[in-house]
Amino acid sequence: MPQYQIAQSPRLSGEVSISTAKNAVLPILAATLLSREETLIRQVPDLTDTHHMADILRSCGAQVEESGKDFCVRALIAGSPQDESLLRTMRASVLVLGPLVGRCGEARLSMPGGCAIGQRPIDLHLKGLQKLGARVSQDGGEVTVSGHLRGANIYLDFPSVGATENLVMAACLAKGVTRIENAAKEPEIADLCRFLCAMGARIAGAGTANITVEGVKEMRGAAYTPIPDRIEAGTLACAAAITDGSVLLEGARSDHMRALLFKLTESGVICQDDTRGLRIRGRARQPMEVRTLSYPGFPTDMQAPLMVVATQTHGLSVFLETIFENRYMHVVELKRLGAQARVEGQLALIQGGKPLTGATVTATDLRAAAALMLAGLVSQGQTVLVDDAGHLTRGYDGLEEKLRALGANVEKIDRPS
Ligand code: UD1
Repeated sequence: MPQYQIAQSPRLSGEVSISTAKNAVLPILAATLLSREETLIRQVPDLTDTHHMADILRSCGAQVEESGKDFCVRALIAGSPQDESLLRTMRASVLVLGPLVGRCGEARLSMPGGCAIGQRPIDLHLKGLQKLGARVSQDGGEVTVSGHLRGANIYLDFPSVGATENLVMAACLAKGVTRIENAAKEPEIADLCRFLCAMGARIAGAGTANITVEGVKEMRGAAYTPIPDRIEAGTLACAAAITDGSVLLEGARSDHMRALLFKLTESGVICQDDTRGLRIRGRARQPMEVRTLSYPGFPTDMQAPLMVVATQTHGLSVFLETIFENRYMHVVELKRLGAQARVEGQLALIQGGKPLTGATVTATDLRAAAALMLAGLVSQGQTVLVDDAGHLTRGYDGLEEKLRALGANVEKIDRPS
């Protein structure tokens, strides 16, 4: 049962190396099921979710060897996951659906779980698979998708990241050409498609709203290093911005982080490309208006960390969350630290400039956990972040260690459960 002790911290300074992106690695690991040959994924971040995905692959019949940060997968055989309990704890477990139906003509899954940030249905995944010719049946908490897939034209009612990934992966081994319109454009989708192409897939338009996949008979093995994590880099950029810091985020890609960097720059922070990554200097002062949107709009995953930045500015900031319906749970916790904040439906209003004071706060989801850790850095006295569900280690590879390396007063304490 992890908890973190955080004390008010000096200006963060120094360099940290950005891990590869959780949200790229998870679909890439799922995609390894498409081939009988060996695939090697390098620099996999040490996260509960990545190890969990490895267990799901094993449960599907694949051999997975984890050697340090290298995951070597060989799925000589593949089938529906045998251990259903593995699926309920992670939303991204649904990503094995597309590869399994594409390769085996059938997949049976328990409906996925994950962070409690809204209803998160998978109707768009299932509707798209039906367009590809699959039959879908649901029985209680279980969904079965079966049939030999044929290319089709698919329009997504909403550019869902997971549905786009699942459908692209399913289409790789479908007969004929699949066109996905209103596809999600996140960099992690383009990265997944680069990996799929390395495995022999034929994909055009990855990273745009119109993706075309020409089905192939077989996929081969490949070795791949996923892109750096723009959300981890963004979280550390926010940590620098609240402490008047000067940090180098080694490997961070500013071209994947434009929306956040605009907000930080407008607020007074200096964000500069460096040959080795991204340099963040100075303090956020101006309040901000933020509307979460699909990429290249402002990422919902950065909403909670940027809200902590808003508490440190002078004036009223306005946040509008349009992607998830229940993603303001951190606001109640920020208020425990003394933040002047109010939620009105999809809107959150933050009156910045009020000093925060340490208290015991609870991590309610992954990004909320990171945001509360940042809030502790600028709260007077001691903050205790209780993360009984282990949200932080689901999605950040050593966030507290990276913050500590930059001078933050953060310590992890493992309490007996
Ligand atoms: C992915 C990311 C997550 C990020 C989110 C939005 C991974 C592993 N996770 O999640 O970190 O916060 O994108 O950028 O990459 N929806 C439906 N029906 C569907 C699918 C989605 O209504 O079939 C809704 C969801 O409930 C949600 C919204 O669409 O309100 C966005 O979901 P989606 O883009 O699918 O996010 P995920 O792939 O779950």
